[in-house]
Amino acid sequence: MSPVGAHSTTSSSDAGAEHGPIVEVESLCVRFPVKGGFGRTKKWVHALDDVNLFVGRGETLGLVGESGSGKTTLGRAVLRRAPITSGSVHFDGQDITHLGGEQLRQLRRRMQLVFQDPYASLNPRMTILELVAEPLVVHGMVRKAEEARADVYDLLDRCGLPGDAIDRYPHAFSGGQRQRIGIARALAMRPSLIVADEPVSALDVSVRAQVVNLLQDVQSEFGLSYLFIAHDLSVVRHISQRIAIMYAGRIAEIAPSNEVYERPRHPYTKALLSAVPIPDPVVQRERRREVLIGEIPNPIDPPPGCRFQTRCPMATDLCRTENPVLEQKSPGHWAACHYSDQLV
Ligand SMILES: Nc1ncnc2c1ncn2[C@@H]1O[C@H](COP(=O)(O)OP(=O)(O)OP(=O)(O)O)[C@@H](O)[C@H]1O
Ligand SMILES: [Mg+2]
Repeated sequence: MSPVGAHSTTSSSDAGAEHGPIVEVESLCVRFPVKGGFGRTKKWVHALDDVNLFVGRGETLGLVGESGSGKTTLGRAVLRRAPITSGSVHFDGQDITHLGGEQLRQLRRRMQLVFQDPYASLNPRMTILELVAEPLVVHGMVRKAEEARADVYDLLDRCGLPGDAIDRYPHAFSGGQRQRIGIARALAMRPSLIVADEPVSALDVSVRAQVVNLLQDVQSEFGLSYLFIAHDLSVVRHISQRIAIMYAGRIAEIAPSNEVYERPRHPYTKALLSAVPIPDPVVQRERRREVLIGEIPNPIDPPPGCRFQTRCPMATDLCRTENPVLEQKSPGHWAACHYSDQLV
């Protein structure tokens, strides 16, 4: 299958749709206008450029890249919460790129977002019952939060929160507990897809693994697929079946997790890997560090050719003029580098 997958059907009710990927993103471009002088729109932020990928059913696709590489924009575009300039997004076999109104509202029940900052994402004036039940009320599944009390109680319990949490306010909870509340809230809608946008980045290192474990535990129980966004490769390793590496709005590499760690085919992935600590101090010391120098390019004026060429130790004139396309290097392993064969 291509990193795009094949959208087999156009309707979610078609039998074939059950077997295809839950999400397919094809040639996706997102540009944000930037105001020039006198309020005129002069320039564009090239946040996503020709992105192709899919998320399989029940799969966790890790999405990794530096700040500004377009991860949140991609997650939001999949949920139809970022403007799509061109390309398409399919969800459950259905083209949702141009969906609007009631159809989009219905679709949003099936796709939820878990936010990065559990402190900012929960309204401090609402009780946990009101917060977790809010999406159910908004979508008219219950008339008021109280009607969902039993379900919310079960969800909180499932997410490892104490029984008395239901009538308390967010300030009574730690960061890790708040993220558990955020997860319970996302689960309340019984979604098929959760976009988890750096769900543990704001948490203490000591509780990160617990929250990742919770996401893993509820995945099969609730039949979820995840697009799991992270800054660095150490967080996504154990939760992701496949990992996509983003650089400056483009996909640099997509592969099964172990392939990314053991046989990276893009120099940017290699550089990211050198930042992941290895538990064995001897191996860690002997490892050749390929430290990333310089900054991610300005998305308003990205460089020609490969976007990594300004920082790549292997860059040649070809890289400075020709954009490398995402090509399959081995089964399921795709990379966008003119010289990826030299990396193995
Ligand atoms: N609403 C917007 N208007 C203008 N530019 C935007 C908007 N949203 C994102 N951008 C720009 O698009 C690019 C990608 O941003 P995005 O937030 O998707 O990156 P990210 O990979 O999630 O970064 P981080 O790791 O910091 O969260 C950045 O240059 C950002 O400044
Ligand atoms: Mg982000």
